[in-house]
Amino acid sequence: MCGIVGYIGSREAAPIVLDGLSKLEYRGYDSAGLAILNNGEIQITKAVGRLKVLENLTHGGETMPGSAGIGHTRWATHGAPSDMNSHPHFNKEGTIAVVHNGIIENYIALKKKMQDKGYEFVSETDTEVLAHLLDYYYKGNPLEAITKVLHRVEGSYALGILFAEHPGDIYAVRKDSPLIAGQNDDGCFIASDVPAILKYTRTVYYVDNQEVVRLSGDKLYFYSVDGEELNKEAVTIDWDANAAEKEGYEHFMLKEIYEQPKTVTDTVSPRVKNGEIVIEELNMTDEELQNIKRIHIVACGSAYHTGVAAKYIFEGLVRIPVEVDVASEFRYRSPILQEGSMVIVISQSGETADTLAALREAKKQGYKVLGIVNVVGSSIAREADNVMYTWAGPEIAVATTKAYSAQLSALYLLAMKLGRARGTIGDELFGELLEDLRKLPNQIELLLGQKQKIQRFANRYVGAKDIFFVGRGIDYAISLEGSLKLKETSYVHSEAYPAGELKHGPISLIEDGTLVVAVSTQPMLYQKTISNMVEVKARGAFVMAVTCEGNKAIEKAADYVLYIPESNPYFANSLAIIPLQLFSYYVAVGKGCDVDKPRNLAKSVTVE
Ligand code: M6R
Repeated sequence: MCGIVGYIGSREAAPIVLDGLSKLEYRGYDSAGLAILNNGEIQITKAVGRLKVLENLTHGGETMPGSAGIGHTRWATHGAPSDMNSHPHFNKEGTIAVVHNGIIENYIALKKKMQDKGYEFVSETDTEVLAHLLDYYYKGNPLEAITKVLHRVEGSYALGILFAEHPGDIYAVRKDSPLIAGQNDDGCFIASDVPAILKYTRTVYYVDNQEVVRLSGDKLYFYSVDGEELNKEAVTIDWDANAAEKEGYEHFMLKEIYEQPKTVTDTVSPRVKNGEIVIEELNMTDEELQNIKRIHIVACGSAYHTGVAAKYIFEGLVRIPVEVDVASEFRYRSPILQEGSMVIVISQSGETADTLAALREAKKQGYKVLGIVNVVGSSIAREADNVMYTWAGPEIAVATTKAYSAQLSALYLLAMKLGRARGTIGDELFGELLEDLRKLPNQIELLLGQKQKIQRFANRYVGAKDIFFVGRGIDYAISLEGSLKLKETSYVHSEAYPAGELKHGPISLIEDGTLVVAVSTQPMLYQKTISNMVEVKARGAFVMAVTCEGNKAIEKAADYVLYIPESNPYFANSLAIIPLQLFSYYVAVGKGCDVDKPRNLAKSVTVE
């Protein structure tokens, strides 16, 4: 997954494209490049490393004059990060330049055919084949060449293309990789995501699969893959312009951790009306909700962890059997969906390739899919039958925090709605749940106030080799997320286990001083988890417990305790995760890690 940006208009393109790329670096950051069209010639500069290297090399774009340009920030898939493998790629004469986000699946066969025709390849990428194919088919009409190429390539792509002979145009194409086009009085834009162009325009078009866009000075034209002109509706983006800025925080991750009270409020409030949960986007009557026999939740990474929590919540509160799958497994395991199955896919970006494929698999089998998605207009949002948006706003840090919290909130609402419709949640319990749900934002705020205490504790573990997270039930789901946050931000090896599973193997890894984070928020399971804490302590572990206020008994077994405010146990995840996010953040900061852009990762995984 990579980020692409393009601009054509009355201003200098390079600084605008560089600025746009800086907002997309979360998508990939191992190399970057620019192609600028000026006086009928394409100038290309590429550099391995962060975007900063390219910015310095081009003096912020000054060394590349011209008012039409495309740029790319890369997360390497085919070929290691290097100047040669960086985008843009170009034909031999340098008259056609291409930036690409996605994967050309049949590139080996195409490359061979192009080599047989005498084309020489200089990179190891799949993308270069596009530049040569375009060259091969180009006979003066870019649209014709592009549509011919599209009929030959398989895979996913969002492309930005420059033709030296057409200095007034930029072309762009999309299939299964995100792409938007935008417009203002100064010109036209393309980008992989809204934040890249939000500073310049709020008038945006979501480019659909197999559509071609021509940016022609100050006008956008859309075409089908067969070259027919299309009419498209613009969407006005109403995000706060600061939403994609750090606003004084040292890192996006910290800012986003602090945005969680608002995120929870924004996701919950619009769906609570007159004391009832109203989820219009569900498009399901109470009768239809009553007829659900099984729920399949499919997602990746942290979104999957919210699904694991949801299994406990739905089964406990609604008494519906729930299967939770990692999307990359679901799509290839010939899943058996039966009549009455409801499929829920969860995704922040709405672009995760495996989750999208799982959605398609469920639809192929004839089942309706509900998407819980953060990015408006993303592929999953568009392909799901119904979409419940998590109103977390743009999330920039690669490690998710606020979108995770919003997903949990959406799942609580869904569980309450289902429980109400199916009669498993009576009036009294519903009232209590609603009250506790409304308290969550303030309680999260209180936990954020413990920042310094957690920072001090985290500083002690900057040199840690292994850290274990354990818990039972929902606490296991919290442990999974706590552990993932730690590894991805601080590169500390970490594992999450159901606490009761420890003695079936992992306990052998406990050494003197090993930190074990025991999450214990479920009163029914307090004693059981305490027993597991005692077991690891006896083997030398240092035990940090995260538990609810009032559970003083835990102090006998833990070396250090962080208390979370009392809430309904089904909502404990939203609270217990806050100290764990802060812990990971401060271990990463203490180690000097690049918190917002951890090594080897990218924000949205649009490849398999
Ligand atoms: O955009 P998605 O929610 O579909 O992304 C899923 C995972 O890639 C994502 O949650 C990933 O695990 C994050 N880096 C976690 O912080």
